Amino acid sequence: MPNLRSKVTLQLNNPEFNTFEDTRSLYDGGIKLPTDPLAIELSRPHPQGDSFGPVSNVYLPASEGVEASIWLLAKAYVVVNDSCYHQLVSHWLNTHAVVEPFIIATNRHLSVVHHIHKLLLPHYCDTMNLNSLARTILVNAGGVMELTFLWGDYAVEMSAVVYKDWNFTEQGLPNDLIKRGVAVQDPASPHGVRLLIEDYPYVSDGLEIWAAIKSWVDEYVNFYYKSDADVVKDSELQAFWKELVEVGHGDFRNATWWFKMPNRTELKEACTILIWIASALHAAVNFGQYAYGGYILNRPTKSRRFMPEKGSVEYDELAKDYQKTYLRTITAKNDTLTNLTILEVLSRHASDEQYLGERIEGDLWTSDSQPKQAYKKFGKKLSEIEKNLIQRNNDETLRNRNGPVKMSYTLLYPTSEEGLTSRGIPNSVSI
Ligand SMILES: [Fe+2]
Repeated sequence: MPNLRSKVTLQLNNPEFNTFEDTRSLYDGGIKLPTDPLAIELSRPHPQGDSFGPVSNVYLPASEGVEASIWLLAKAYVVVNDSCYHQLVSHWLNTHAVVEPFIIATNRHLSVVHHIHKLLLPHYCDTMNLNSLARTILVNAGGVMELTFLWGDYAVEMSAVVYKDWNFTEQGLPNDLIKRGVAVQDPASPHGVRLLIEDYPYVSDGLEIWAAIKSWVDEYVNFYYKSDADVVKDSELQAFWKELVEVGHGDFRNATWWFKMPNRTELKEACTILIWIASALHAAVNFGQYAYGGYILNRPTKSRRFMPEKGSVEYDELAKDYQKTYLRTITAKNDTLTNLTILEVLSRHASDEQYLGERIEGDLWTSDSQPKQAYKKFGKKLSEIEKNLIQRNNDETLRNRNGPVKMSYTLLYPTSEEGLTSRGIPNSVSI
């Protein structure tokens, strides 16, 4: 049984959470990492019901005796919860699942020659097929998620519960950062937000990609819609949006946060967010899974026991043999092989992958020269951004790229080769 919730209290000046093995090896060397959490609180449901509140325990750092083992185990539980949240919410829910209704509504209401259909088409490639496959082996009842991540019904149920708080307008990067409390609104800053943690690789790289998508969409929409009235009188567009809101994401049909699609500003923002989700956001959460999580001992996906309590057989076992307890707690051997295989498959780029700024039709996707030029400019901008990101990874002062573990952040490099590369932003959610 898992400990269902974990809360990590970190040192305020360093948000980086070190992996279990890093910490263990440094402890073994007698060094306490400066980034070790200050405390970990693990919670599970009260046996007499939710109205009694969760049963919680707080664990503190220790470097000797059984307390050191307890502390290492507490960190492993945090990693398990993070693995599950990452796979079922950050990855499956926030990218794969939420894009589907857009694809269906587009195909039902926008003709293939419609300008917005042409804009969005590359960002839908293979998503429906892939999601359909996922429903037969990964997120189905009794599938890989239920067997090797959160136990039984909890797995997909967690996605469903978190979806209740989903809000499309908050999925764009700047708004997401503000909501998560890592940035504040600041019109004077380059992307309209001031970062509270400046050395945050996903964010500093992501904001450049976000701005490039936004600028491309802006130019494209301005070419085809000369006024807000053009948006309102586009009956295909309005029908597409109505179906998306009222049927596709029908659970939120009465939500007040939806764009109402009365002008060019909302059309641009909606397209920018959607392209961001399907491309860069998915790349950031998908293609590093093998590199970050492929060593399951270091990033387990499941816990099979509660934290041992003083006086229990498990506690005595932990005092005698930490390794045995750890292996009896985390993902079992067969499930480890399954997880490892899945993470490797998901992290691979196909040989025919289409990356952001590229279209399979080459120059033939439109006969209008201005949008064609704007798209080429977008591709050129992405090449410049890739150079910036490479430079940033070479900057030794950026400790979250060049810290105790020297691991460059490459997930938002726009281009990649085929295979396991930990880089590359495909146009769509295709794996
Ligand atoms: Fe994916």
